[in-house]
Amino acid sequence: YKRITTKSLVDMKANGEKIAMLTAYDYSMAKIVDGAGIDVILVGDSASNVMAGHETTLPITLDQMIYHATSVVRAITRSLVVVDLPFGSYQSDPKEALRSAIRIMKESGAHAVKLEGGKEVKDSIKRILHAGIPVMGHLGLTPQSIYKFGTYTVRAREEQEAEKLKSDAKMLEKMGCFAVVLEKVPAELAKEVAESISIPVIGIGAGKGVDGQVLVVHDMLGMTHEFNPRFLRRYADLHTEMTKAFENYRDDVKSRDFPSDKEQY
Ligand code: KIV
Ligand code: NA
Repeated sequence: YKRITTKSLVDMKANGEKIAMLTAYDYSMAKIVDGAGIDVILVGDSASNVMAGHETTLPITLDQMIYHATSVVRAITRSLVVVDLPFGSYQSDPKEALRSAIRIMKESGAHAVKLEGGKEVKDSIKRILHAGIPVMGHLGLTPQSIYKFGTYTVRAREEQEAEKLKSDAKMLEKMGCFAVVLEKVPAELAKEVAESISIPVIGIGAGKGVDGQVLVVHDMLGMTHEFNPRFLRRYADLHTEMTKAFENYRDDVKSRDFPSDKEQY
């Protein structure tokens, strides 16, 4: 694939090719992620935690999401860029949801938006889709509703919530969403959902029976080393590497080792 589109993702699912997705929030990181051949870059509202240090995703604003998205889009040559609609930018009414989505598309140049929820936000999704803006759904653990859930534990373990999740996924497919994220649900349920719809299901903590995977880039790089959920595989230990680099630099400055004669003009 030259440039990844929403259609290439649906084709990948049809062809049995798994989809690799990561978050990015800034130009330098997005350039590396795009260059490494990651199919989808999510400008997640996890920026609220990872970039801004908030405890939840609720505080991040639409303006701040657009700033992150704009920086990411400047770095991209191949990946599809999906941007989270932040909490409060789409729940009140469908018109506001559409206005928020339009701002993201116009001001950042991103390719699609993602929002959390099923039936509750149906009218907002419909409105955005009717304007020609691709929508990715997000079901299971939806962090913008953390104060309703009360915990970040696995969702849809019980029959009733599992049934709602299945019907929400079907609804998103039928409405015309191009993909759906499933966060922290039992692997068996996620597999069942993935097999029941033709649009790709991208999992995070949803097992191997889905059509692709997504991780928060700072988590998989080992920068957020105090965050240790079972689903997280670490591909680097940047917390240790970066700490070593900073300590070595500090020592070199203090000891007058840096700069050397060769490192000056
Ligand atoms: O904001 C985010 O990073 C996300 C992913 C975890 C799916 O929504
Ligand atoms: Na998110």
